[in-house]
Amino acid sequence: MGASGNLTRTKLAPALFSLYHKGRLPEHLHIVGVARDNLDDQQFRDQLRGSIPEATDQEWDEFATRLTYATVDVTSADDLWALYRRLDEFDPDENGKLNCLYYLALAPSLYEPTISALSAAGMADDRQGWRRIVIEKPFGSDLNSAQRLNRHVHDVFREEQVYRIDHYLGKETVQNLLVFRFANSIFEPIWNRNYIDQVQITVAEDVLVGERGEYYDRSGVLKDMFQNHLLQLLALITMDPPYAFAADALRNEKVKALSAVRRLSLRDVRDNLVIGQYDGYHYEPGVAPGSHTPTYAALRLYVDNWRWHGVPFYLRSGKGLSRKTTEMVIQFRSPPHMLFPVPDDTVIPGNTLSICVQPNEGIRLEFQSKVPDEDLGMKPVSLEFHYHDGFAGIDLPDAYERLLLDALEGDAALFTRSDEIELAWSIIDPIVHGLDLPGAPAPFRYLPGMDGPPNGEELLLSDNRRWIPGCVEVGYGI
Ligand code: BG6
Repeated sequence: MGASGNLTRTKLAPALFSLYHKGRLPEHLHIVGVARDNLDDQQFRDQLRGSIPEATDQEWDEFATRLTYATVDVTSADDLWALYRRLDEFDPDENGKLNCLYYLALAPSLYEPTISALSAAGMADDRQGWRRIVIEKPFGSDLNSAQRLNRHVHDVFREEQVYRIDHYLGKETVQNLLVFRFANSIFEPIWNRNYIDQVQITVAEDVLVGERGEYYDRSGVLKDMFQNHLLQLLALITMDPPYAFAADALRNEKVKALSAVRRLSLRDVRDNLVIGQYDGYHYEPGVAPGSHTPTYAALRLYVDNWRWHGVPFYLRSGKGLSRKTTEMVIQFRSPPHMLFPVPDDTVIPGNTLSICVQPNEGIRLEFQSKVPDEDLGMKPVSLEFHYHDGFAGIDLPDAYERLLLDALEGDAALFTRSDEIELAWSIIDPIVHGLDLPGAPAPFRYLPGMDGPPNGEELLLSDNRRWIPGCVEVGYGI
């Protein structure tokens, strides 16, 4: 649903084609594009063809036989009922059941009316085959609206039928964080406040807001990136080991971790947050004149439990920055006593572990080494793992491939549960409200192509720390 939209063209169709090409789609799978535009099947196929340039004509023609189109107002139960009848034409599975996954790639304002219409058309009833629903982000615009939407969804679908997308969870390197932490035994014993000094999470983008001004101006970076992607990364870094890689086991642990994140009071916001806006943001189409919407934020959070007490987590994200990079840096404590001669006042930094999510996917561990042929000079060196070496010849799939396949297979481990979404909003809401208080600071200006406003650094300097070049700046990946 939303078949003529941007997401379908740029993400969903290429992911489905790739799955098809790899032979991973179920044999009888049909994809019905649904939107209001008056198109026939062939026009719909032609619309998608351009987004999959890598397909040969023969591959495309084979894939296209799986694609049909229906002109439907998704908020109309009558339209959906007529569509539902059409689905009976398709082959059932080996048990004679017709299973349906409804993908809502729609404007968020259409979620509730569409879910009501699905219900009225009897399309949530799963007695004749499974029925699942995928809901894109943003899931609500604050805690209240997310709770309302969850209630509405649960009036119609059971939680196990619901797949809320956060595409960061579908990224290979993000999934690998779980394998790295829990399929190796050397990290977990030191993954706590006794050994870790601080954690930094950066999701930097060089792109500007572009065509999305209207949506973005109502959201800003805190709702667009922190509430979902950055808090999901934080949850994966801080959670305890789940007992199994299974949807509820994993999500229970993430929920515990998010519950322990210290909520900022409105007054704390000023001391723990820096916001910025890139120069020229006001000229983006759809942006309100004089808008204070932040396009950059740096935030200090604490996780109040035994594992993390006192360890600061610095999170930052922004648009119009110098480069696109997503990385997580875990800085271990300095050695308790330095037996090698170092100049006065020099503190030898602890080891740094950098998880490079994108674009130079890999992991880097920095440690001190003796400089050869010098008395006792030391220098940081690194052990590096790069996907392009370790898994040479394997292209990293787009996040949507994995997520679409998981939803089709009924595995919700990489989707967010209702309580997780609400907890994430309960962390972000007071921060956003703090910015609305009279006297709240306006965002600092920064020039596109910089690393955000200069005071993004000050947040850390007040703790005697700095942003650590984790992956890119130190030549990682080159
Ligand atoms: C989306 C945000 O969820 O994530 C966008 O709405 C952002 O503003 C995008 O650009 C970033 O995703 P990725 O995968 O390019 O890091």
